[in-house]
Amino acid sequence: MKNYDHLCAPLKLAGATLKNRMLSAPTSLAELGEGEKYSPANIAYYKLKAAGGCSLVTVGDAIVDLDTGRSHPQQVGINDPASTPYLVELADAIHSGGALASIELDHGGALCSPEFIGGRNALGPSAFTDAWGDDIDEMPEADILRIADAFAAGAATAKKCGFDMVMIHAGHGWLLHQFISPSCNKRTDRWGGSLENRMRFTLLVVEKIRAAVGPAFPIDIRISGAERSPGGYDIDTGIEIAKLLDGKVDLIHVSAGTQEDEYSAVLMHPGIFQSHGENSALAAEIKKHVSTPVCAVGAFSKPDLMESFLAGSGADCIAMGRALIADPFFPKKVLHGYTNEITPCIRCGECQSHMIAKRVMRCTVNPLVGRESEYFHPILRLCAPKKVLVVGGGPAGMQAALEADRAGHQVMLCEGQNRLGGALRFADHGAFKSLMKDYRESQIRKVHGSGVDLRLNTQVDRDFVERHRPDALIIALGSEPWAPPIPTGEGVRVFMGSDLTMAEPFGESVAVIGGGLVGCEEALELAQLGKNVTILEMRPELAPDCGRMHRINLLHQLAEQSRITAVTGARCTRISKDGVHAVGADGHETLYACDSVVMATGMRPRQAEVEALRGIVPDTYVIGDAHLARNVMMAVRDARDAVVNLGLMY
Ligand SMILES: Cc1cc2nc3c(=O)[nH]c(=O)nc-3n(C[C@H](O)[C@H](O)[C@H](O)COP(=O)(O)O)c2cc1C
Repeated sequence: MKNYDHLCAPLKLAGATLKNRMLSAPTSLAELGEGEKYSPANIAYYKLKAAGGCSLVTVGDAIVDLDTGRSHPQQVGINDPASTPYLVELADAIHSGGALASIELDHGGALCSPEFIGGRNALGPSAFTDAWGDDIDEMPEADILRIADAFAAGAATAKKCGFDMVMIHAGHGWLLHQFISPSCNKRTDRWGGSLENRMRFTLLVVEKIRAAVGPAFPIDIRISGAERSPGGYDIDTGIEIAKLLDGKVDLIHVSAGTQEDEYSAVLMHPGIFQSHGENSALAAEIKKHVSTPVCAVGAFSKPDLMESFLAGSGADCIAMGRALIADPFFPKKVLHGYTNEITPCIRCGECQSHMIAKRVMRCTVNPLVGRESEYFHPILRLCAPKKVLVVGGGPAGMQAALEADRAGHQVMLCEGQNRLGGALRFADHGAFKSLMKDYRESQIRKVHGSGVDLRLNTQVDRDFVERHRPDALIIALGSEPWAPPIPTGEGVRVFMGSDLTMAEPFGESVAVIGGGLVGCEEALELAQLGKNVTILEMRPELAPDCGRMHRINLLHQLAEQSRITAVTGARCTRISKDGVHAVGADGHETLYACDSVVMATGMRPRQAEVEALRGIVPDTYVIGDAHLARNVMMAVRDARDAVVNLGLMY
């Protein structure tokens, strides 16, 4: 068993002791219960994190003054007395899961839209008109003092409700950060100008909170170690900020970025194009200059790297956001030496993108997200173990086999190819797909380590099913590439996007037809291989269906690549040996010269193979792309649903 002594060591913060150094970073939920209170589902979400073994669960932002500080449609106001019983329940639930409870105190400042704060102008350090045309008012000193008191009152409420700690949010572009940041704070009074003046508000908040909660109650503060935005402050300022806080708080939590800039917000939540522990150098640098314990955050998901980071004194502890959404049991698996069992976060950003677009949280690799209460209410009316046959070893089939095995069924998983993974084979190439590859390999490892009877190179037909007589049949045969009937001349090299190995004889220039997520990622990969690429997309924009966080990241990478030309509003009419002919919005046809063509125009279920297996077993489920070509998230959720449903007693 590997040694994770540093990750597993306790950490004392004022009067509290964290049982290990793996912390749950604040990850708030978009949808609350009635009256903006924590619902049973919200509470189960946090409780599951605690049950997963982390030492501290920090609840996402609670607003200290809802009237002026709400930055999102729904947020808990810690200044609302009606929130108290819900806060008590929440702290209690986190404790019952085995972790200490902290809550983040925040105020949105200039980033509050008037629609969330009763139509009034938002308050910031300095007056300006934002990108939406809303006027921001300069915060009068009386309001600064009032909001500092509200932070202190929020901390006192948290303590009264049973929380063990609070986190002050002084990073990411929210109110306190706006005062700290020279690009937002243009004041000339004692709250602006020098760093000491810009920090005055934050230091006042710290002082007032300390007075309210006493010396034994730990105060954590989240800062941006660098703004990582054009014109933003860098690590040198980050160090000076930390030095001013040193000794006044109990934990300095070093994140990065500002919500003021959308790519900076991506770097705050590093995606597939960023590195493991993307912002860890900021924490490590700050740690050299302060004696207060330091917490690092951002794209941590590999226990070995985390252990060596702590062992090398990079930080005193590590907070994880998305890694614990992907697998809340990550810490327990580290503590007990089952790191192979961790379901890795693939940093697709869907948790956040879903919240932004649909107001619910979802996770590509964890089907339990959004249904955490199921975990604490196991279905009692379970049938006796069944014989389950799963056909297809792609993401849906593997997940179904694993879920069914875990539920105690007798499972056979048949895959026609000589390897598991199905559509995830696309992750074999392209450095930026390595997280998806990690996920695929972890699923394969889990199947091999489970009780599943795995049959590779096994085609399943009616005869096979009838011979094995399963109680339940799960069809997870996946999808196949689909291309529109574009007239294509002789001798043109056309490849299907989803089947690329990147060893194809592309020539020097490639046209990618279809600028959705797959087409854009293939184009990027081809450009990285030195090809000149033209993306031809019929719709007015690239990757319109892609989640917001990944889309911003992806478009940023495409824009940085000089070898890529993207043409939108282009309908391909034919492909000749000279290239692709497409009609633009103006009705004119243009020839886009290329040596070869990649079709990234979509997928469709393997309908014929699916139909051949229907009607044999009464309890049959068609899941994943075999049901409807979508994505890994839906495949994995379908798989869990099928296994829950087949296990219900009737
Ligand atoms: C769904 C989601 C919700 C988040 N909510 C908050 C929040 O309420 N407050 C905050 O300071 N950070 C929030 N974050 C940022 C995380 O705390 C963390 O800093 C960021 O995700 C980077 O860490 P990670 O790579 O481990 O996810 C959120 C992140 C995600 C993904």
